[in-house]
Amino acid sequence: MKKKSSKQTEQALKENAHENDLYNFNHARSKLSFERLIEMAEKMGMEKNPLFVCHERAAKATTQINGKEYLNFSTYDYLDINTHPEITEVVTNTAQIFGTSAGASRLVGGERPPHIELEHAIAEFYEVEDCIAYVSGHATNVSTLGYLFSARDAIFYDGLAHNSLVQGARLSGATKYSYAHNDCAALETMLKKHRDKHKRAIIVTEGLFSMDGNIPDLPRIIKLKRKYNCMLMVDEAHSFGVLGKTGRGVREYFGLASTDVDLWMSTLSKCMCGCGGFIAGKHELIEFLKYGSPGFVFSVGMPPVIAAACRKALEIMLREPERVRKLQHITRYFLEYAKGRGLDTGQAQGYAIVPVIVGDSIVTGFLSIALFKRGIYAMPVTFPAVKEGTARLRFFLSAAHKEEHVQQALDAVVEELPKAKASVEQYQREHQNER
Ligand SMILES: Cc1ncc(COP(=O)(O)O)c(C=O)c1O
Repeated sequence: MKKKSSKQTEQALKENAHENDLYNFNHARSKLSFERLIEMAEKMGMEKNPLFVCHERAAKATTQINGKEYLNFSTYDYLDINTHPEITEVVTNTAQIFGTSAGASRLVGGERPPHIELEHAIAEFYEVEDCIAYVSGHATNVSTLGYLFSARDAIFYDGLAHNSLVQGARLSGATKYSYAHNDCAALETMLKKHRDKHKRAIIVTEGLFSMDGNIPDLPRIIKLKRKYNCMLMVDEAHSFGVLGKTGRGVREYFGLASTDVDLWMSTLSKCMCGCGGFIAGKHELIEFLKYGSPGFVFSVGMPPVIAAACRKALEIMLREPERVRKLQHITRYFLEYAKGRGLDTGQAQGYAIVPVIVGDSIVTGFLSIALFKRGIYAMPVTFPAVKEGTARLRFFLSAAHKEEHVQQALDAVVEELPKAKASVEQYQREHQNER
C-alpha cells in the first residue's frame, strides 16, 4: 500500500476537522442550557429527564406520568375540550372516509370537504370574507409574513412576539422593528421615524401574550395602524377561546370590528385541540396566500380528521360558553390566590396563563423539579426564552381546574421556593470548581 504524503495527511485531517464541525451540535447554546437542567435534575435525585416527559393519557387538570397521577398546569387545552366524545366520534367517522392523511398539497390534490368546512366556520366566526388553514401554527406565521412582505417593506413587532412571527419577519427580508413589549408609545416613536422609508408596513402583535399572560392595548394599536398607514396582524394563539364573554377573543374583549385587523391569525393547537393554524381576513388576501404562500402550497394539507376535529371543537366552544366562564373564573382565582400568598405574577391579567416569576433560571429549574416530586407538573421558562432575571414557572389554567388544585399547587410553590433558593446556593458552593 502506498504511504500517504504529509500533504495528503494534512488534507485528510483538515477534512476530518471540517466534518467534525459540520456534525458537532454538542456546544450549541440552547442544547447546553437544557443539559444544565437535566444535570441538575439528576443531582436532585430525579431519575428521568425532566424534559420530553411522556404523558400516558390526555393531559387535563391531572395527567399520568410513569403510572403516577400529577396535577397538571402545562396543557393548552384551555377549555377542557380535548377527548370530548363528539370530537372522537367525528374523528372516527372522518377517518373512515378519508383516512388519516390529506395525501397531497391542497392546491394539487389534497383538498377535502373538512378543510373547506373548517375555513368557512372560522371566517364566519371572525365575520370576515375568507380563511386559509395551514398544517402548522408555526408555519402559518413564518409562511404568511415571509411571503407577504419583502425588502422594501417594514415589520413592526412586539418585543415578546412569538418565535414564529420573528422567523416570518426574518424570512421576508423586510426591515424589522421590534418595539418594547406592549409599549405603544415606543411603537409610535418607531413608526414616526421609520414608516415613511418603506413601501408597505405591518404591525404584528398577539391577543394574549404567552409568557406574561397580558393583553395589548389593541384599540390604541388600531389607531396607530390607521395614522401610519400600516396593516395589522394579531396572533390569537392564546386569546382565541380565552378572551371575551364567549371566547371570541381579543376582538370581543375590546368590542372591536373584525375589519379593524387585517390578518386574524390563530393556532388550532390550543383551544381547538388539534394542530395547524389559520389566517382570516379579506378574500383577496386569502386567495393570494392560497396560491403562493410556501407553507401552504408546498406542504401537505392538514389531515382531514384534524380539520373535522377543530371544526367540532369550535362548535362545542360556541355552544357551551360556560367553559369560557369557568376558565376565566379559575384563572382570576389563581391570580388572586398567588398574589395573596406573596408570589410575583408579573403582568398577568387573569386569562389562562399566569407566570410565577422567580428570577434566577437555576432556582426556577430546581423549583419545577421540587414540585414535580410533589406531584405537580408546571414547567419552567428560563433564559433565553425570557430575559435573564425573569425566569418563571408558567401555569396554564384550564376550565377543568378546581380551586383546590390551585391552592395545592400554589401552597407547594410557597413552601418550595425558599428551599429551591437554598438548594441552588448549596449546589453552587459544592460544584463551583467543576466549570
Ligand atoms: C403566540 C403563538 N403563535 C404561534 C404558535 C405556534 O403554534 P403551534 O404550536 O400550533 O405550531 C405558538 C405556539 O405555542 C404561539 O404561542
